[in-house]
Amino acid sequence: MASSDRRTITTDAPPAAAGGADPSLDPNEWSGLRALGHQMLDDVFNELQGIRAGPVWRPMPDDVRGAWSDALPRVGVPLADVYDEYQRSIAPYTVGNRHPRFFGWVHGAGTAVGVLAEMLASGLNANCGGRDHAPIACERQVIRWAAEMLGLPRDSSGLVVTGTSVANLVAVIIARSAALGPAVRRDGIGESKLVAYASAAVHLCVGRALDITGLGARALRLIPCDTAGAMDVAALRAAIAADRERDMLPFLVVGTAGSVDTGAIDDLEEIASVCAEQRLWFHVDAAFGAIAMLSAALRPLFAGIERADSVAFDFHKWAQVPYDAGCIVVRDPAGHEAAFSHQAAYLKYQMRGLAAGRPWPVDLGPELSRGFRALKVWMTIKAFGANRLGNVAERSCLLARRLAAAIDNEPLLDRMAPVQLNIVCFRYRPGDDELQTAIAADLQEAGDVVLSTTNIGGRTVLRAAFVNHRSDEGDADAVVPAVLGAGLRRLGAGAVAADQHLAHQINLDRPPLRD
Ligand SMILES: Cc1ncc(COP(=O)(O)O)c(C=O)c1O
Repeated sequence: MASSDRRTITTDAPPAAAGGADPSLDPNEWSGLRALGHQMLDDVFNELQGIRAGPVWRPMPDDVRGAWSDALPRVGVPLADVYDEYQRSIAPYTVGNRHPRFFGWVHGAGTAVGVLAEMLASGLNANCGGRDHAPIACERQVIRWAAEMLGLPRDSSGLVVTGTSVANLVAVIIARSAALGPAVRRDGIGESKLVAYASAAVHLCVGRALDITGLGARALRLIPCDTAGAMDVAALRAAIAADRERDMLPFLVVGTAGSVDTGAIDDLEEIASVCAEQRLWFHVDAAFGAIAMLSAALRPLFAGIERADSVAFDFHKWAQVPYDAGCIVVRDPAGHEAAFSHQAAYLKYQMRGLAAGRPWPVDLGPELSRGFRALKVWMTIKAFGANRLGNVAERSCLLARRLAAAIDNEPLLDRMAPVQLNIVCFRYRPGDDELQTAIAADLQEAGDVVLSTTNIGGRTVLRAAFVNHRSDEGDADAVVPAVLGAGLRRLGAGAVAADQHLAHQINLDRPPLRD
């Protein structure tokens, strides 16, 4: 569409005070809006189709950054102008996770199917807090599929939430109610000394969940990890015994199935046994790991997850559903409802009509109004099938191993953790901690490859996470030369050559880490 045509499209009916008749926000004529809408969809698809050709990420220029301080617009402008502004100021400056060389964080890439599903969901504008309608049935279907994937009972309860942070929070709330009884909802935790356990590699959101629920982040005991980054279960047993000695009240163990730093997986079978013996709630944070269970090759790594009381995970990571879409699945539907249900006259269940269909999501989580997030999950799983999503996870893990092998063959790089799933942590050998951080930032700004940094054993490491369904062998192979190039540019050839000699000697004494 020529830009002069697009200028004529407006969603801005004249306000009633100015003589306008129609207070509705629908357009006066639909054909222009329709054309612009088609254009937008084409633009999105074109962008996805050509995503590889552009930079992974580009910093926001100062003029774009500075443009975000407009006063509240009192009068609308033509939608075409708003869209132009979006194209100029928003679309080019996003995270970059759609690009196949984005390895920075555990972010899914999204799909064209997801784009369409988001559009359809906003077209329906369903409020999925409750009541008896198809979007709620669709969400229940998604939860049943999730339970099937995890090996939990078919009648498990659950919700599609924003992400694993909220899913973990929901799990902590249910576990708290299970430990203290429903009175905790009215009386608070009082003097009770609830304590929870997770490995030292647990995601920060679990501590935050304890903070938010009033238990205090210190109530989370961080259990040391073994060399593979998994919880030391003997240390878990010892910590529980020590807390019982001190009259603390152990109530929850959080197993990690895919740690955020290295992708480590706890021994879920062992932890399940500890929880069964000690009568503790067994929750698993499988934020990205869960989807790997759709791969027959990877599924055995998660043995024991089917014994969990609850599991939190994301669809927006390996399942490639557009942000945001996480999930909580709970074995005991009654316990789940008991932790959240409310009675308010305006939310009363009825036997028939729109107010039928118990239980409603409002009685299973903290939100009342909520969008139809489940549609994009349902549509993604239907359109691609679970096997294909499992293949994405499997290929990501193969790419991670490929990068690990390339790092192990490069004297200037040191691998810093075993690769169990899709995450590779390594250091540019001649550099200190600051140099690792600088290399990551240089690469991000250059837009060739996006890596992140984290800390392992007190040292800053570069981190590559393979999640994107678009990444291939060539993308994995681009990481080592990119890091070497960035290191060289920072240090200069002389320093690198001198250190390479040193690195070689040291590596002979201490062979690179093998899994
Ligand atoms: C292991 C783990 N738990 C929890 C989270 C938080 O998930 P979300 O960002 O979806 O809230 C992440 C995010 O990467 C994670 O890797």
